[in-house]
Amino acid sequence: MKGFGNSTIIIPISLCFIFLIFIYHFEDVLAAPPRHLCSPEQRDALLAFKNELEIGQLQQNCMHDSFESHPRTESWGNNSDCCSWKGIKCNAKSGDVVELDLRCSGLHGRFHSNSSLQNLSNLLALRLSGNDFSGQIPSSIGNLFHLTSLDLSQNQFSGQIPNSIRNLSHLSSLDLSYNQFSGQIPSSIGNLSQLTYLDFWGNNLVGEIPSSFGNLNQLTSLYVGINMLSGSFPIVLLNLTGLSELYISNNQFSGALPPNITSLSNLRDFVANGNAFTGTIPSSLFTIPSLTSIYLGGNQFNGTLEFGNISSSPSNLEELDIGNNNFKGPIPRSISRFVNLSYLGLSHFDTQGRPIDFSIFSPLNSLEYLDISYLNTTTTIDLNDFLSYSKSLSDLDLSGNHVSTTNKSSVSQEIYSLSLSGCGITEFPAELLRTQHEIEFLDISNNKIEGQVPAWLWTLPNLEYVNLSNNTFIGFQTSNKKQGLSSVRKPSMVHLLGANNIFTGNIPSFICELHSLNTLDLSENNFNGSIPPCLGNLNSTLSDLNLRQNNLSGGLPKDIFERLRSFDVGHNQLVGKLPRSFIRFSTLEVLNVESNRINDTFPFWLGSLQKLQVLVLRSNAFYGPIHQASFPQLRIIDISHNHFDGTLPSDYFSKWTAMSSLGTDEDQSSEKYMGGGFPYYYNSMVLMNKGVEMELARILKILTAIDFSGNKFEGEIPKSIGLLKELCVLNLANNAFTGNIPSSVGNLTVLESLDVSQNKLSGEIPQELGELSFLAYMNFSQNQLSGLVPRGTQFQTQPCSSFGDNPGLLFGSSLDKVCRDAHTPASHKQYETPESEDEDEEEVISWIAAAIGFIPGIVSGLTFGYILVSHKPEWFMNPFGRNNRKGRSTTTH
Ligand SMILES: *[C@@H]1O[C@H](CO)[C@@H](O)[C@H](O)[C@H]1NC(C)=O
Ligand SMILES: *[C@@H]1O[C@H](CO)[C@@H](O)[C@H](O)[C@H]1NC(C)=O
Ligand SMILES: *[C@@H]1O[C@H](CO)[C@@H](O)[C@H](O)[C@H]1NC(C)=O
Ligand SMILES: *[C@@H]1O[C@H](CO)[C@@H](O)[C@H](O)[C@H]1NC(C)=O
Ligand SMILES: *[C@@H]1O[C@H](CO)[C@@H](O)[C@H](O)[C@H]1NC(C)=O
Ligand SMILES: *[C@@H]1O[C@H](CO)[C@@H](O)[C@H](O)[C@H]1NC(C)=O
Ligand SMILES: *[C@@H]1O[C@H](CO)[C@@H](O)[C@H](O)[C@H]1NC(C)=O
Ligand SMILES: *[C@@H]1O[C@H](CO)[C@@H](O)[C@H](O)[C@H]1NC(C)=O
Ligand SMILES: *[C@@H]1O[C@H](CO)[C@@H](O)[C@H](O)[C@H]1NC(C)=O
Repeated sequence: MKGFGNSTIIIPISLCFIFLIFIYHFEDVLAAPPRHLCSPEQRDALLAFKNELEIGQLQQNCMHDSFESHPRTESWGNNSDCCSWKGIKCNAKSGDVVELDLRCSGLHGRFHSNSSLQNLSNLLALRLSGNDFSGQIPSSIGNLFHLTSLDLSQNQFSGQIPNSIRNLSHLSSLDLSYNQFSGQIPSSIGNLSQLTYLDFWGNNLVGEIPSSFGNLNQLTSLYVGINMLSGSFPIVLLNLTGLSELYISNNQFSGALPPNITSLSNLRDFVANGNAFTGTIPSSLFTIPSLTSIYLGGNQFNGTLEFGNISSSPSNLEELDIGNNNFKGPIPRSISRFVNLSYLGLSHFDTQGRPIDFSIFSPLNSLEYLDISYLNTTTTIDLNDFLSYSKSLSDLDLSGNHVSTTNKSSVSQEIYSLSLSGCGITEFPAELLRTQHEIEFLDISNNKIEGQVPAWLWTLPNLEYVNLSNNTFIGFQTSNKKQGLSSVRKPSMVHLLGANNIFTGNIPSFICELHSLNTLDLSENNFNGSIPPCLGNLNSTLSDLNLRQNNLSGGLPKDIFERLRSFDVGHNQLVGKLPRSFIRFSTLEVLNVESNRINDTFPFWLGSLQKLQVLVLRSNAFYGPIHQASFPQLRIIDISHNHFDGTLPSDYFSKWTAMSSLGTDEDQSSEKYMGGGFPYYYNSMVLMNKGVEMELARILKILTAIDFSGNKFEGEIPKSIGLLKELCVLNLANNAFTGNIPSSVGNLTVLESLDVSQNKLSGEIPQELGELSFLAYMNFSQNQLSGLVPRGTQFQTQPCSSFGDNPGLLFGSSLDKVCRDAHTPASHKQYETPESEDEDEEEVISWIAAAIGFIPGIVSGLTFGYILVSHKPEWFMNPFGRNNRKGRSTTTH
C-alpha cells in the first residue's frame, strides 16, 4: 500500500460522503434563496433544536476533503431568515426547510424525546454525521415522514434502532454507521421499500439479518460489517437482484455460502472477510460477471478451491482475498485467468508440501498487491525471477515460504512493500533493495541473515518500517562517507525493529540522526556501553524505546522525551538513580527498569504522570519506604525484589483510581493490548502470576496487578486494598507483614491470583475470600494463620501446599481428607521443599492451556486472556482498520 500514514485512512469515509452527495440532489433547492422565506415556526424549531445541544469539540475524523469541520449552528440566530443559515436548505417555492446538514459541527448532547426537530416535518434530508450525539434515537424520528435521506453516522448513539423508523417510508438512504447501536436489526426496516443505501457498519448489532430485508428490492448497497451479527448467510438477500455492494465482514456469520449466490447478478463488491464461514467457496461465485471485489479472508473455508468454468468471458475481478482460511490442495491454475486482478491474498493456503509453479501468476499483468505468505510449499521462490513475472507488483508478501535472494538479475519495477519474514534467507538482499527508492516497508525478520546491516538502507528516501528481528546480524555498517546520513534531507525511518540479533558494541549513533523515528526496538542483543546521550535528539518523535536484555551500563538518559509512550531498559546493568527528568515524560504509559542495579528511593513523584499504567522496578536496589504514592492510571505495578521497607498506612491504596475502576478509556474498545505505532508495536513484560513467571508478549489493557513481593515491608496489609475492585493479581509474598489478612480482600471480585506466603500473618483467612469465584491460585503458606480455611469452591481445589506451614489452620469438609495428613510431621516435608520439577511443569502447562482457552472470553472483560509468546492466533494480526471497509487483513496493509 502506498503510504501507511494517517492520510489514507479517512479516504473511504470521504468517498462515502461524495457518494451520498451524488445520489441526493434536490431539484427545488436553491443555493441562495430569496430573502425571508423561512416561516417563524420553522425558525423557532431550529433555534429550539440548537438550544437542546451544546457545541463541543469538533470530531477529528471529520477532517476530510469533501466536508469541512465547522460549528455550523454558531451563526444561527443573527438573521431572521433561517433559509440563509449555515447547513439549511429550503424549498425555493414553499420556503419549507428541506435539508438540515450539520455534519461535523461539534454538536454534543442527546435527542429529547420531544425534540423540536420533529416540527421540521418537511425535511427531506437530515445529516448529523460526525458529531457527539449520544443516547437513543427517540421514536419521534418517525414523524419526519418525508425524509429520503437520514445520516446519523459517526456519533455515539446507543440503544436499539427504533421501530418507528419504519414510518420513514420514503427513505432511500439510511446511514447509522459508526455508532453504538445494540440489539437486533428491527425487521420493520424491511418496510422501507425505497431504500437503496443502508449502512449499519461498526455498531454492536446482534442476531440475524431480518427476513423482511427480502422486500428491499431497490437496495444497491448494504453495509453491516463490524457488528456481532450471526446465523448462516442471509439467503433472503439473494432476492435483491439489484444489490451491488454487499459488506458483511467482521461479524459471526457461519455455515456455507449458497451456490445460488449467483442470483445477485449485479454484485460488484462482496466483502465478507472475518466471519466464520465454512465449507468450500461455491465456484459459481466467480462466474458473476459484475464482480470486481471478493473479500473472504479470515474465515474457516476449507477443502479445495475451484474457480469453475471462468473461461467463457474475461473476468472483471480486480480484488480477491481468500487468505487466512483452511484451504488445502493445489492453487488452481485457472487463477491466471483473472487477468484484471490488482489485489490477491492467498495467505495460509495450505498446498500440503506440493511444488507450485509460480508462473501461474505471470499472466496477472495488473497485479500490484500479492500476499502468498505461508503456502506450505516445497518450491523455493526465486525473488528476482518472481518479480520479473509480474511487472506491476509493488506490494509483496512471501513470508513463511522458502525464498532465494541469490539471483542478482535486475528488477525493473518499484516496490513499496516487501515482507520476507521466515523465508530462510541467509543474505541481505542488497542488490535488489539498493535501487528501490520508493520502498516504504521492509520485513526481513525471522531469517538467518548474518553480517552487517548496510548503511545505505537508512538513506532510502521513503523507507518507514524495517523489521530485522530474529536474525543473526552482528552490527550496523557505518557509512564510509563522512557526512553519513546528513546528506539525506529528512530520514524517513519511523519504525526500526532489530530485536533478538547478536548486535554488539555501542548502540550506533546514526540512529540519533533518524529524525522521524517513533519506534526503536533493539532488545535481546549484546549491545554494551551506555545508552547514547544523542538519543535525546529524538526527543520530539520517539514514542517506544525498547533496549531490554542487552549489556548496557551507566545511568539512565536524563533527556526529556516529550512523546515517549513506553520505555523498557530491563535486564541490563544500569546504575544510578531514576532521573527526575522522567517527571516530564507526560505521555509515558509503560516504564520498565527491571533487573538492573538502580539504587534509589521509591519514585512516588511519578504519580504525577497522568498516563502511567505500567511501572516495573523489580530486582533493583531500590530502598526505603514507599509512602505517599498515588497513581491515577496505574494498573500494573511490580516493585518486587528490592529493599523497600516500612509500613503501609491503611489508606495506602485509596488514590489508585485505575485499579478501583477501569473507567472508559476510549482506546479500550478498539485495541485490547498495550502498544503503539503502526503496524502495532506491542509492549511485553514478565509478571509473576499464579506462582509462575509468565512472559506476556502482549499486555492486556484490562490486566491489573500488584507485586510487592521480596521486600521488607512490615505492619498490616492496608485495608484499602479492598478498594481496588479491578485487581487481578496480588502478590505480597516474602515480606514481614503482620496482623490479619484484611477481610476487604473479599471485595476484590475479579482477583485471580493471591499470594501472601512467607510473611508473619496471623488470625483467620477471612471467610469472605471463599466467595471469590475467579480466585484460581492462592498461596497462604509459611505464615501463622489459624482457624478454618474458607469453604468456597476455589479453596476446595487448591493443593495443600497453598496452606502449608501454618500450624494453626484447620480444614473443613473435603479439603480435610486431603490436607489433614499434610499436617502430620511425616508429610511436613512435602511442602517445605520445593515441589518436584515435574509438578511445576504440570502446573505451568495447565495454566498455559487455561490462558489460551480464555482468549475468546476477553469480551466478557473478566478473564485474564494472556497471549503467550508462542501463541499468536491469526485473527490477532487483523486489527481490521476501522475505516477501511475492505478486509485487507495483514498488518502491513
Ligand atoms: C452572530 O452572533 C454571534 C453572537 O451572537 C457573533 O459572535 C457572530 O459573529 C455573529 N455572526 C454574524 C455573521 O454576524
Ligand atoms: C420536552 O419535555 C420536557 C419534559 O419531558 C420539557 O422539560 C421540555 O421543555 C420539552 N422540550 C420541548 C422542546 O418541548
Ligand atoms: C410492514 O410490512 C408488513 C409486511 O411485510 C406489513 O404487514 C406492515 O403493515 C407494514 N407496516 C407498515 C407500517 O408499513
Ligand atoms: C425470495 O425468492 C424466493 C425464490 O425466488 C421466493 O420464494 C421468496 O418468496 C422470495 N422472498 C421474498 C421475501 O420476496
Ligand atoms: C437459494 O438456495 C437456498 C437453499 O440453499 C434456498 O433456500 C433459496 O430459496 C434460494 N434462493 C434463490 C433466490 O434462489
Ligand atoms: C465452459 O464454458 C464454455 C463456454 O460457455 C463451454 O464451451 C465449455 O464447454 C465449458 N466447460 C465446462 C468444463 O463446463
Ligand atoms: C545504594 O546506595 C547507598 C548510598 O547512596 C549505599 O549505602 C547502598 O549500599 C547502595 N545499595 C546497594 C544495594 O548498592
Ligand atoms: C517484527 O517482526 C517480529 C518477528 O516476525 C514480529 O514478532 C514483530 O511483531 C514485528 N514487529 C513489529 C512492530 O511489526
Ligand atoms: C467492601 O465491601 C463492603 C460491602 O460492599 C463495604 O461495606 C466495605 O466498605 C468494602 N470495603 C472496602 C475496604 O472497600
